[in-house]
Amino acid sequence: MARIAYVNGKYINHAQASVHIEDRGYQFSDGVYEYVAFYNRKLLDGELHFKRLERSLKELQIAEPVNFAALRVIVRELIERNGREDGGLYIQVTRGVAKRDHVFPKNVRPALVMTICGAKTPKPNEFEHGVKVITQPEIRWARRDIKSVSLLANILAKQEASRAHVRESLLVESDGTINEGSASNVFIVTKSGKLVTHQADENILGGITRDVLLRLAHKAGIAVEERAFSVNEAKAAAEAFITSTSINVLPVVKIDDKLVGGGKVGEITKQLQELYNAYIYKQTGKKF
Ligand code: PDD
Repeated sequence: MARIAYVNGKYINHAQASVHIEDRGYQFSDGVYEYVAFYNRKLLDGELHFKRLERSLKELQIAEPVNFAALRVIVRELIERNGREDGGLYIQVTRGVAKRDHVFPKNVRPALVMTICGAKTPKPNEFEHGVKVITQPEIRWARRDIKSVSLLANILAKQEASRAHVRESLLVESDGTINEGSASNVFIVTKSGKLVTHQADENILGGITRDVLLRLAHKAGIAVEERAFSVNEAKAAAEAFITSTSINVLPVVKIDDKLVGGGKVGEITKQLQELYNAYIYKQTGKKF
């Protein structure tokens, strides 16, 4: 079946889809995005992603390109037209097309682009045995809570991970604090069995997977602490894992040269993987 994109009101063959050269997303990275997983053509936590999109737009004073009721209809239509059962929905909204000027243009319509891609799920072996990560200096701007398309620092960090043949880079402040991964949130389990993750403030993107997992952990009676933690604490932790829409709950067994939890996936991580998989199944019918 053909791959179809949505570009400013039109469903277009993916290969022909394009935007104007003076789209402010292209010139200034003046835009925001969401990446939503779908299984059996059903969005996973679609409403939570739409809510975060609404917040990102508000923070950057970009108008809503369409109202959210219309957005839901367009998304459903796009998924149907692509004919894919499982995959990812990418939504991007930019301030629009205007003559290049740093000041916000007047009377410009925000641009809405959506694409569908295949699921980027890790391999069963990675879910079971965990992955390695490295640390990289945090060099992003100060509003990481906004899901902005400005991802230059994130891609540089991810490229370093790729060069080192590991899954992810953890972004570390000059004081040694881990904020999050280049495209994921980071959790550790302390030796006393507490689940710890960075508080949702301006230093991290408040991940949807992170939020859901915290709720599931709380319901399961796992002690949770939302606070900053250092690289040293993470390396000495009993367990570690990263979360995102595309990787679910992915165990981390090595940070730089240090094995975490003796290089084995921990019990609380496994329990949270099961809880999260059950959550996905309940919402979409997809089994992991
Ligand atoms: N990225 N932190 C960063 C910097 C991210 O880019 C992401 C997700 C997350 C996790 O958020 P969520 O659980 O809502 O996916 C945290 C997506 C997957 C991406 O850029 O494609």
